[in-house]
Amino acid sequence: MPSRFADLKREIRDSIPSFEVKVTDAWTRLLAQLKESTAEIAREDSSIIPQVKFSDLEKLSESEIQNIKRRGSLVIKDVVDDADAAAWKTVLGEFAKANPDVKGVPADDPQFFMLYWTKPQVEARAHPNVLAASAWLNKLYHLKDGAEVEGVDLETPLTYADRYRIRRPGIAWDVHPPHVDGGTIERWEDPNFRACFADILNGRFEKHDPYDLQGRLDSRSSLYGRPNQASIFRTFQGWLAMSETAPGEGTLKVFPDVLLSNAYLILRPFFRPKANVSQDDLLSPESWQFDVDDSGFPGIFPRDGGFAGPRPTPELHPHLQLDKTMISVPKVYPGDMVFWHCDVIHSVEQEHKGKGDSAVMYIPAVPSTPQNLGYVQRQKEAFLQGLPPPDFPKTGPEGQFIGSGKEDHIVGPAGRKAMGFMV
Ligand SMILES: [Fe+2]
Repeated sequence: MPSRFADLKREIRDSIPSFEVKVTDAWTRLLAQLKESTAEIAREDSSIIPQVKFSDLEKLSESEIQNIKRRGSLVIKDVVDDADAAAWKTVLGEFAKANPDVKGVPADDPQFFMLYWTKPQVEARAHPNVLAASAWLNKLYHLKDGAEVEGVDLETPLTYADRYRIRRPGIAWDVHPPHVDGGTIERWEDPNFRACFADILNGRFEKHDPYDLQGRLDSRSSLYGRPNQASIFRTFQGWLAMSETAPGEGTLKVFPDVLLSNAYLILRPFFRPKANVSQDDLLSPESWQFDVDDSGFPGIFPRDGGFAGPRPTPELHPHLQLDKTMISVPKVYPGDMVFWHCDVIHSVEQEHKGKGDSAVMYIPAVPSTPQNLGYVQRQKEAFLQGLPPPDFPKTGPEGQFIGSGKEDHIVGPAGRKAMGFMV
């Protein structure tokens, strides 16, 4: 990392009284809590990830909601009828055959499609239950003292057009190792984004609230304008299953403790292992020391004129115990949705040992905020022109493809509003 990032560390240190003492003390407490939490995660495996029925969302107890918030990930079952979701997969399978020019990864046999506006995608995003699930997730967030902010409406979800995948069995994927989306070095570099983690940087990580909306509203998650870097704020990333997919069949993996992973990722750049520490002693707090001279932010690296990551690894982030704590989400059926908080460390299973395709449409939860409303208007223009949405690589027009979605495929007022057609 360029040397100016050591200056950034010192700037953060100098902005917080007694920073070194506070965070060093917090680091010790954090490592003790991580030891317990990672052991629990490894023990519980997929059962640690909450599963709820769509029809039960409004009936959950306070403790169930608190558990969902701490884990940061959940499966919502039966959001869409199985038959409808499976039918979308069939149509998407035919789309690529009818339009051999579609782009995707791998290029010679696409399974992850650079397509945003097929009819099933346009329909799924406007489905009333998909939007209701999104609103429910958005409302897990709050403004600290119940304050109201102009232009913020957690009841009104917005659409964020993303892609889909139809992953076939037996083919290894290495493209999605553990990572966090929605901003890289910006978490530290942008003062607004950094404010989301103020309690962590003040040495009070126990008080950190990943669901506090205030700082998120004007966080700049894409200071360098790198393609594929979301410029909007998603409360949760998500996908809609169009096939049965069990652990081991190319599904999503998550680190299911968003409070502690946030605390650890944010504080990690301020500590380094002492010299000559043995592998056996590496996890002990005594083996680490405060350091603001090194410009490195472990897991963040330069790419495409900006930065990528956070991409935690077992070597750089040993206390996360990632080889035991990246947990596959429980088995899903067509019409189930999986969501993970925007800060959650996640990855995609490298192997797909199942028999059928693992197919999902990426559909996140997006609240109405001034920044998001602005994006949705630009996104709508892209849709009307059949072009990729503004945050994504310029892969060329798709509106001319056979089976492309049109405005009248957005059925219902909630769906139209989410796409910015009714303001
Ligand atoms: Fe991701």
